[in-house]
Amino acid sequence: MAKLSVNDLEKIKSDSAPAIAFQDRTYCLICGGTGCDATGSIAVKTALEQEIEAKGIADRVKVVETGCNGFCAMGPLLVVHPGEIFYQKLTADDIPELVESQLAKGQAVERLLYKDPVSKQRIASQNDIPFFAHQMPRALRNKGLINPEDINDYIGRDGYFGAARALFEMTPEEIGSAVGNLYVQAMTEIAGMVQNDPSSEELEPQLTVLKEKYVQQLVEFGYKREAMEQADKSKMDLAIRLGLSDAYDNEVYTTYSEAVNDYFNDKEVRELLSSFNIITQYSNFELLKQQEPGEAQRLGIE
Ligand code: FES
Repeated sequence: MAKLSVNDLEKIKSDSAPAIAFQDRTYCLICGGTGCDATGSIAVKTALEQEIEAKGIADRVKVVETGCNGFCAMGPLLVVHPGEIFYQKLTADDIPELVESQLAKGQAVERLLYKDPVSKQRIASQNDIPFFAHQMPRALRNKGLINPEDINDYIGRDGYFGAARALFEMTPEEIGSAVGNLYVQAMTEIAGMVQNDPSSEELEPQLTVLKEKYVQQLVEFGYKREAMEQADKSKMDLAIRLGLSDAYDNEVYTTYSEAVNDYFNDKEVRELLSSFNIITQYSNFELLKQQEPGEAQRLGIE
């Protein structure tokens, strides 16, 4: 299997730059997260794509289905870039007017914008909506922006550069701390996924995809650990333990623990959720082979 080099990452990032900056065309980021899906985002997306095609503007407008944007109560959501024009509670019936006005003429459709409950004013830009204006997302800084099925979207936004840096530049302590950070990020993503109490059927496939994403990154750190002398391995392991003990004080860990209890009656989901608690073992092949020999074999770790 061909492996990506840092140069490959840089090339993908540079090729993606115009799209990431929303400079090459208009982007319609429609939320395809669980909450919006449940309230009809698929029908809205289909109507949007059909209307764009019918209007003959498909060459300058791109529809992207993203993961959860965060403001699930307002779904189905659509954010139009550039401008971050935030549309809420859409139905397929709203789409012809939205395409005609916003996408063809560049004029926002007032009635579909967010209405501030205090001032009663309509707010066009997502950045100006109080729910978003008071947030400083870190682990979830790409929420609502990335197509989770397109790896280039993630690389374009610096995805995997941290892992690449770890492989080629970082000290054992920094690698251990990066492993601890991945653990916190995974917990944060799980906390976002369970915030609307999705059913087990909805949650399980999302958790499976999420776990594999973190497994792949942790295994890369594991290879780095394999190449270390014992003293450096010990430094890395200590940094991981310190990172994890900090993580246990983080509120996302509390949310995660509650989720394990909430899905206790569904064995598959419970086990999947529980497996995140020991996910850092993928960065320590000795441990992985001991505790999860099947996983070590699946990943080609001998
Ligand atoms: S699922 Fe759409 S905003 Fe959360």
